[in-house]
Amino acid sequence: MNSTLILGLQWGDEGKGKIVDALCKEGSLVCRFQGGHNAGHTIKVDGSQKVLHLIPSGIMHSSSSCIIGNGVVISLPALNEEIEMLSNSGISFKNRLHISNDCPLILPTHIAIDQVRDKHEGIGTTGRGIGPAYEDKVGRRSLKFGDLVDLDLHKSKIAELVEYHNQLLTKIYESTPIHIDLVIDELTSFRKLQSNFGCDTYKILHKSIEEEKEIIFEGAQGSMLDIDHGTYPYVTSSSTTAGGVSSGLGVGPKQINKILGITKAYTTRVGEGPFPTELFDEDGSSLAKIGHEFGATTGRPRRCGWLDLHALKKIIFINSVTELCITKLDVMDRFKSIKICIDYEDGKPIYETFPGWLEEISDIKKFENLPIPAQKYISYIEDYLKVPVTVVSVGPDRDQTIHK
Ligand code: GDP
Ligand code: IMO
Ligand code: MG
Repeated sequence: MNSTLILGLQWGDEGKGKIVDALCKEGSLVCRFQGGHNAGHTIKVDGSQKVLHLIPSGIMHSSSSCIIGNGVVISLPALNEEIEMLSNSGISFKNRLHISNDCPLILPTHIAIDQVRDKHEGIGTTGRGIGPAYEDKVGRRSLKFGDLVDLDLHKSKIAELVEYHNQLLTKIYESTPIHIDLVIDELTSFRKLQSNFGCDTYKILHKSIEEEKEIIFEGAQGSMLDIDHGTYPYVTSSSTTAGGVSSGLGVGPKQINKILGITKAYTTRVGEGPFPTELFDEDGSSLAKIGHEFGATTGRPRRCGWLDLHALKKIIFINSVTELCITKLDVMDRFKSIKICIDYEDGKPIYETFPGWLEEISDIKKFENLPIPAQKYISYIEDYLKVPVTVVSVGPDRDQTIHK
């Protein structure tokens, strides 16, 4: 067995896309298990950049294949747009993408509800309809990807669902309804996606496990955005932690061999909610500027702060993290001193201060060649968290990855 779960340990945007792409081997199977097109995973190969929202990051390797598991919620126009974008750049989808017929669909009404509701609730969602789509899944009224096989069969279900959404939109949120024809048109015009890619993905996954293929489970969002374990209610609506793999793909937890947790060398967050180590000073602006901290999906500026080891300790336990990857270490190159939160007192972070290295590290290929203060920074993280750091990322490109 050879499977690795790649998870974000913070509030998303840790560099999951980059690391999945960097660790993906020819012939690997890469599987998404939760979230939707709220994700934005950036991949850079030889200077050329792509941002993926729904398609697993393994698509960039021509001999690998991808699964979108039942735990993912799908917007048909977003899926279609991404497939077209990748196809236009020469990426082939022939026998390479398999989408679970059990994926709940995100309808235009979900997106309308999400956007109007967030104006009152102020979570700062991505406005992609994620929350309302998961509500309908749990409420047992979702339309699923496999339902596109015969839309006529589901006509009354669709009518009831859209009517329910329109009642919410008009009566609760005092907004405008969406005509059912618009919903039906969208479903009809993208039916081909189901005939091209829809299947029982768990069969493919189980076969791949039997054949001892290399498998990567690609997390979206981050553990602190998990619906159960995150900073509720400022979270997303899916299980972003390790537990989500089993329910989101139909695979037992024993089939996950390695759990690689990713953290930036500092912390960022998009949207509202608590962030104990957030910086409002010059260091915060420098992290944002040097790290180009703007959301890959919405373009919103990301809030920035120091690394929080106290929070990471709990997250590592929740996920059974076996190895760590530190990304964006190069962003610290220009800091004279760097802080890490090691505890809280009365809700306020207590910091340990480390000397910076004040030299460029983005071309370094071996851990031993990193400046000594950078090596010490990593060692401190390992000692505190009691988990080995096996991957260090020093730039956005696939090649800027150090295996320790
Ligand atoms: P994801 O959602 O976890 O896949 O992360 P995003 O793609 O949303 O955000 C990570 C951003 O950091 C992207 O712009 C990446 O190109 C970039 N990135 C990833 N790793 C590194 C790194 O080690 N150094 C630098 N400077 N940028 C990185
Ligand atoms: P990736 O996979 C960062 C945040 C939103 C908001 C909250 C709820 O690129 O790391 P939602 O639209 O999911 O209902 O919004 O979650 N959020 C993310 N933040 N990276 C992401 O994905 C995110 N996906 C959702 O900003 O605070
Ligand atoms: Mg992202």
